[in-house]
Amino acid sequence: MKVKKAVIPAAGFGTRLLPYTKAQPKEMVCIYNKPSIQHVVEEAVNAGIEDILIIISRNKNSIEDHFDSVPELEKALKDKGKDDYLKEVQEISNLGNMHFIRQKEAKGLGHAIGMAEAFVGDEPFAILLPDDIMYSEVPVIGQLMKAYDEHGKSVLGVQPVEREAIRKYGIAGGKSLSDKDISVEVMVEKPEPEEAPSNLGILGRYVLTPSVFKYIKETKPGKGGEIQLTDAIEQQIHNEGVIAHSFDGIRYDIGNRLGYMIANLDYALRDEEVKGDLLEYIRTLNL
Ligand code: UTP
Repeated sequence: MKVKKAVIPAAGFGTRLLPYTKAQPKEMVCIYNKPSIQHVVEEAVNAGIEDILIIISRNKNSIEDHFDSVPELEKALKDKGKDDYLKEVQEISNLGNMHFIRQKEAKGLGHAIGMAEAFVGDEPFAILLPDDIMYSEVPVIGQLMKAYDEHGKSVLGVQPVEREAIRKYGIAGGKSLSDKDISVEVMVEKPEPEEAPSNLGILGRYVLTPSVFKYIKETKPGKGGEIQLTDAIEQQIHNEGVIAHSFDGIRYDIGNRLGYMIANLDYALRDEEVKGDLLEYIRTLNL
């Protein structure tokens, strides 16, 4: 069955970007020229996703507003002949069918995904964590959707991570099926490097089969009362098999200050209009 729906959980607190996130959604931080969540929605749409559900919470209404149309603004831009801006603004509100739902309490990523059951129904679906921004020729979620078509099993997007970074990620280990795919046998949350089953970090992109909803319901709250998505995926590993697919692309973790700065710099340097002046400015820093 073709993957047509995506879920973007965006109801977390964004503690690592405080104080910015005290009253602003971290998904609305600007990565060079657009809110981070727009980069993620565009990735899904470019991969052929038709319906997108964003899970939001209090203080996150600006996410919903961003994908709405603003007739007064469009009229003003048209009257002033600012056609480039008009086109950009209109494109955002035509990015696909956007749906929103509120998670009233931050009870964990698994709980947030569980809220998507009525939207997803009995179909495989994509999950994009909006902290991870992907820069790639072929949309990363599209690469995972292709792997799902081949294997018919849940797919986790992975990339090798530095040894010292292993303890920050969920790590997948298993039997190699091809140069890009492994059949997952174990998944360990934030292991010490010497105990990790591999160096393949699970990095914010998934295609899951709908059985995950059953397993989420069976999952007991863990640390901090949160329901972990990884616990439900572990059930899928044991009961139906799960694939980890090494995707091509550059991944930015914009949920922390350094990753956020690096993403901004890289995206700015890809824009020929500012690249020259920006590089010249960087040279004046005499680092
Ligand atoms: P994180 O664990 O990164 O939490 O959530 P966070 O709140 O976003 O950020 P920090 O760690 O406090 O800085 C992973 C993803 O799951 C979503 C988050 O919005 C993020 O996209 N999430 C997490 C929810 O939607 N609901 C939750 O209850 C927890």
